[in-house]
Amino acid sequence: MTKTALITGAFGGIGFACVQRFLKEGWRVVGADIAAPLQTPNGDFTYIPFDLSDTGGIDALLSAAGEILALVNVAGVAPKKRGDLLDMTEESYDFVTGINTKGTFFLTQAVAKQMIRHPENCAIVNISSMSAYTSSTSRGEYCISKAGVSMITKLFADRLAEYDIPVNEVRPGIIATNMTSGVKEKYDALIDGGLLPLKRWGRPEDVAAAVFALASGALPYVTGQSVDVDGGFHLRRL
Ligand SMILES: NC(=O)c1ccc[n+]([C@@H]2O[C@H](COP(=O)([O-])OP(=O)(O)OC[C@H]3O[C@@H](n4cnc5c(N)ncnc54)[C@H](O)[C@@H]3O)[C@@H](O)[C@H]2O)c1
Repeated sequence: MTKTALITGAFGGIGFACVQRFLKEGWRVVGADIAAPLQTPNGDFTYIPFDLSDTGGIDALLSAAGEILALVNVAGVAPKKRGDLLDMTEESYDFVTGINTKGTFFLTQAVAKQMIRHPENCAIVNISSMSAYTSSTSRGEYCISKAGVSMITKLFADRLAEYDIPVNEVRPGIIATNMTSGVKEKYDALIDGGLLPLKRWGRPEDVAAAVFALASGALPYVTGQSVDVDGGFHLRRL
């Protein structure tokens, strides 16, 4: 039977690496993204335009996708402008949390209801961030949104455990994609200065490797877990 993965944010840096990894492993991939594809990957791939901030579009996405074995929640946004926490606007808060947290929650809820009708080999993987537990006062709305994603992981891991559906999370560190291109010099300097034990930027493929392991059953009996793909950023060091 063909295995289908639904991957949101499929045309971003991390999403596209996930798309390519699942295709390479012989899966059928449905890529959902608000952005139109810049390149079409080789393999059994279907693109469905989808805005994660619009819960009204979920039913159409799921009917077009067919039976899903793996849901990979990658789509996410940073604030349009970084700025002091004391000046954060309600508009920016709603924009970031509306996509990253609310959108991820309601898509996961809808897919979970579908999965429990055919739970065998199903899995859900969320992309949160090191920002789920790290304070960045210039983008507080992003940190809040990703802490919310971490709770979404725990809640669905708990709720879907009776169906043997694992729900896990990957926490990327500093990964070279569009999202981080505007702060490249800042992060280059921090990495040079020793911020990360593994002294390099993360690559989208590093994240996709962890996502695939969690989604494909390579780590049985693991649920509600988060995997830091961050070059060791999370270590406390003396
Ligand atoms: N790059 C990093 O360093 C890093 C670190 C930690 C976590 N992350 C997370 O990884 C995920 C992917 O980020 P990336 O670095 O690949 O960024 P990216 O900007 O390259 O990709 C994000 C993708 O999400 C899509 N998207 C944005 N809003 C959407 C919406 N409303 N509906 C549907 N799709 C939407 C975009 O079109 C884009 O294709 C995000 O959730 C991000 O928060 C990234």
